Amino acid sequence: MACMLIGLTTAIAQSDSTVHEVANMFEPKSTPAEMIHEISLLVLLICGVIFVIVTTLLVYTVLRFRRRGSGDDHEEPPQVYGSTQIELAWTVLPILITVVLILVTARTIGEIQDAEMPADALNIRVVGHQWWWEVHYPDYDFVTANEIHIPLSSATERRVTHVALESADVIHSFWVPQLNGKTDLVPNRTNHLWLEPTSTGTYLGNCAEYCGTQHANMQLRVIVHPPDEFAEWVRTQQAAPTVDPAVARGYDTFVSNSCVNCHTVNGTVADGVFGPDLTKLMTRQTIGAGVAPNDTANLRSWVRDPQVLKPGALMPDMKLLDSEVDDIVAYLQTLK
Ligand code: CUA
Repeated sequence: MACMLIGLTTAIAQSDSTVHEVANMFEPKSTPAEMIHEISLLVLLICGVIFVIVTTLLVYTVLRFRRRGSGDDHEEPPQVYGSTQIELAWTVLPILITVVLILVTARTIGEIQDAEMPADALNIRVVGHQWWWEVHYPDYDFVTANEIHIPLSSATERRVTHVALESADVIHSFWVPQLNGKTDLVPNRTNHLWLEPTSTGTYLGNCAEYCGTQHANMQLRVIVHPPDEFAEWVRTQQAAPTVDPAVARGYDTFVSNSCVNCHTVNGTVADGVFGPDLTKLMTRQTIGAGVAPNDTANLRSWVRDPQVLKPGALMPDMKLLDSEVDDIVAYLQTLK
């Protein structure tokens, strides 16, 4: 067991990939995730030792005391009752082991939860919805969805992101395994977590608390940039949108339908808050909270009838004409 764990740790130390398409919790890339990883290896080690001892004793007993011979003698083995020493040993020892596990785990939880946030920490607010993530950047005054961009933290320039978690409907859970543990988003309550990524790249996450039909498609991406690239992304998000005259018909169709009751596009009459903010839709890699890549075919399918890609999604089939779908998609593709 110990050898296996050491082997695992070495493999982790050697890996240096920047695309993290597999959300492997044994490959932490953020300070709190590293703290959790450390404690989980200790817990695994203790449990592994217990497993080996119990299994060895069990196998030994089964083999050593198995029934021998013809099997005709129904003689009972000696019946032993009550040994205070043995009973004390198998009661006290597990209690002590459990207490040790509780104490080390509680210490790590405390260290992560009570960590002092630096004064220059980036603040973001994430609101869980059935079934997507609303992401506010109050420091910069814009809103996006499903993809969270944050700066890289390094030894020379520490950059911590503080995340406030809320819910608009039911309980969800924020989990990006390589960046931190799970934290629930609970209605009428604000929870907190922090991220301090030590490696750039795209990190995958998912809602980790069953929240209805499309729980599995409530996916999340955290994209970690070097600080200057992050500043560039912020400028893109803040830039005022303009309506390209070439897609004026799509814009008119968009604002004259009930799209505007649920979606916001800055600088237009669309100011709904039930669905994702579309102001910079085309800067996002996926649509429908990770359900499909953000390309023309999928966008068209989504606008035509969201229930095809994501059955149960709260956006209904708007019964648009084919030409209206084309016009709206052409307009949406200018939102960048
Ligand atoms: Cu949100 Cu599961």
